Formats: sequence, structure tokens, C-alpha cells
Amino acid sequence: MSFYENHILPHLIGFACASPQIMKQRSLVVPAAEGRVLEIGFGSGTNLGFYDPGKVDHLFALEPSEGMRRKAARAVDASSLDIEWLGLPGEDIPLDDHSVDTVVLTYTACTIPDAATALKQMRRVLKPGGKLLFSEHGAAPDEAVAKWQRRIEPIWKPMAGGCHLTRKPDQMIEEAGFKIEHLTADYLPKSPKFAAFNYAGSAV
Ligand SMILES: C[S@@+](CC[C@H](N)C(=O)[O-])C[C@H]1O[C@@H](n2cnc3c(N)ncnc32)[C@H](O)[C@@H]1O
Repeated sequence: MSFYENHILPHLIGFACASPQIMKQRSLVVPAAEGRVLEIGFGSGTNLGFYDPGKVDHLFALEPSEGMRRKAARAVDASSLDIEWLGLPGEDIPLDDHSVDTVVLTYTACTIPDAATALKQMRRVLKPGGKLLFSEHGAAPDEAVAKWQRRIEPIWKPMAGGCHLTRKPDQMIEEAGFKIEHLTADYLPKSPKFAAFNYAGSAV
């Protein structure tokens, strides 16, 4: 891992993923997590304040980047939740089949290199009836914006830790075998349009 990825990128991502608009999305999705929870791409732990401690028994924080885990350490120490680090990628979740009640996926499906495999792994570890809670940016439906997303993506991706602008999270989730129960898809206000189209909801 390069110096940029290990020491600079975690701070840039931590900052970009904490805008008021994104924090609002987190507040609409994360509090529904319950039981044994697995968060994929835990990042700097920005979701921690949105979990309901009365509903979460155990939180597996899966995060392959050492730099991100280091950045999250203080928030993890300060949290009252029972948190266990998993230092592996989402394509290789080290948990048993049907062993978690909720998977939380926020602003990470854009980045996971093999997101299709990772989503199948999420499905594998979820108990029957368990929920995938998600909030992700992705492809915009308007061709004028989508065109810019396709143009910017090759420059953006290496700067933003592998983040894609053109993925379709709802389609990816359904292709992995989930059934989407609830979905809101719209532009976040006051955000750069190329990264503002947000898909949030739950799937079983
Ligand atoms: C844009 S950040 C989002 C972090 C956090 N989920 C949030 O909502 O703020 C994307 C995260 O995905 C992580 N990531 C990258 N590759 C991954 C993979 N293969 N599996 C799981 N997470 C991965 C990155 O290290 C980074 O922490």
C-alpha cells in the first residue's frame, strides 16, 4: 500500500464522507441495524454515532485498510458498542454462513474491487430474514450527468482509493440475490452532481 493510500487518503475519505448531506443519509439508514451487525468497509467509523446501542449486540467492523483502521481507532475506543475488527476485504468475509442479523454498507460498494463477489458474501453471512442496509452513491439517471461521471471516473478512481462513479448499487444488490424492500434514489443537495446521486434503503 502506497504512502498516499495509507496516510493521506484516510483523511480525505473521512472528510468527504462526513458532509452534512451524507451524515443525514447515514441517520436514515444505520439506526435500523440490530443484533449481530457486520459493517463492510468500516472506514474511519463515521457510522458509529448512528447505531442504536440498545439494538446492537455485537459489531464486526470489516476494514482491509490499515490506514483507515488507524484513523477509526479513537472512535472505536470511545464507543460503547462491542466492536470486533475484521481486517480482510469484503470479498472474503471470515464469518460463518447465516451468522449475522444486519449488514451495513455505506459508501463502499463504489470502492470494493469485486463488488459482485463481496455482495454474495454478504448474502452468505446474513441469517434468513436478515437485512442489508445501504446508502451508496452511484450512476445518475440523467444522461448529461452520467456522461460526466464516465469522463471523470478514470481520473477520480486512483485519487479516491478505487471509488467508481458509474456503478448501479440497486442493480448490483439485486444481482447478488437480494430483494430490495425499500429504496430512495435521488441527488443529495449541495453536493457535486457527479458524486451526488444517492441510493439508500434496505434489502433482504
Ligand atoms: C469511501 S470509504 C467509506 C467508508 C465508510 N463505509 C463510510 O461510510 O464512511 C470506502 C471504504 O471501503 C474500504 N474498502 C476498500 N476495498 C475494500 C474491500 N475489498 N472490502 C471492504 N472494504 C473495502 C476502504 O478501505 C474504505 O474504508
